[in-house]
Amino acid sequence: MADLRFDGKVAVVTGAGHGLGRSHALMLAARGANVVVNDLGGALDGTGASTGPAAEVVELIAKDGGRAVANADDVSTPEGADALIRTALDVFGRVDVVVNNAGILRDKSFGKMTVEEFDAVLAVHARGSFLVSRAAFPHMKEQGYGRIVNTSSPSGLFGNFGQANYATAKMGLVGLTKTLGIEGARAGIKANAIAPMAWTRMTETLFPAEYARKLGPEKVSPLVVFLAHESCPTSGEVFSVGAGRVARVFVAEGPGWRADDPSAEAIRDNWDAILAEQPYLQPTTLGEQWGASLKEML
Ligand code: NAI
Repeated sequence: MADLRFDGKVAVVTGAGHGLGRSHALMLAARGANVVVNDLGGALDGTGASTGPAAEVVELIAKDGGRAVANADDVSTPEGADALIRTALDVFGRVDVVVNNAGILRDKSFGKMTVEEFDAVLAVHARGSFLVSRAAFPHMKEQGYGRIVNTSSPSGLFGNFGQANYATAKMGLVGLTKTLGIEGARAGIKANAIAPMAWTRMTETLFPAEYARKLGPEKVSPLVVFLAHESCPTSGEVFSVGAGRVARVFVAEGPGWRADDPSAEAIRDNWDAILAEQPYLQPTTLGEQWGASLKEML
């Protein structure tokens, strides 16, 4: 089968000055995409700003014969997100792919987390992904084609100590991805999410140094390339990816237990049946989920 190419396509990658986003941008450009390399250029906690990181990645792409433009807008503001998509349209004339990757950390145990720390993390991850997708959506709709890749996290899917803000944002992105998958379907827009694991400045203190190569961001980017490609058959899904492994993550519900008039005691007495996982149901729409509760009643 043919290689996955992006000739003539335009991809916007947020937070592409470092780590995973940088790797996604390089890989998309190497496969022919015109890339808008966005990065605010701040510290890991989101403070500060610099045009340097995005400009460096654009330089690397150009050196390899690719086409890219740097952008240092803040994706967490409507003005920044709109200006970012405007850059894609002004420089390359269209937008086919959005990779929402920008992120910051403000880790703190739950009892100590401030409202400001909570809001700041949600603003970049959740609001930023919403805002950039929102700015691109009408253009994708008009051309009847688009690919959106959001960046969730195992911390959101499964929870993690000290990351109440981050986990809320990252699980929120699953909801955004599934809803975008549903609302984009008729216009040829597909949205999926990755939950990556990679050696970057965000995680370098968590993994032993000898893991650096095994956990390189370039082991994650091939999935992003496929999800961003026109041949991707899937929408509304979430994939765990890292160290060369790719796996679907899905939200399912167990077979459940029901009574016409459940009492708290009956729920207590049937707790094992309520906790049971098999045979599970994996609804793809709200209607399917509702149907599971209603079918035994009717
Ligand atoms: P990173 O810190 O190397 O990259 C994040 C980039 O986002 C930085 O270059 C930063 O300047 C940029 N950024 C932050 N706020 C921005 C804003 N408001 N506007 C534009 N750019 C902004 O970290 P890494 O690891 O590459 O993270 C990329 C994404 O992957 C993040 O969403 C992160 O939460 C997610 N992730 C990473 C994991 C890992 O193992 N490295 C695990 C799970 C999720």
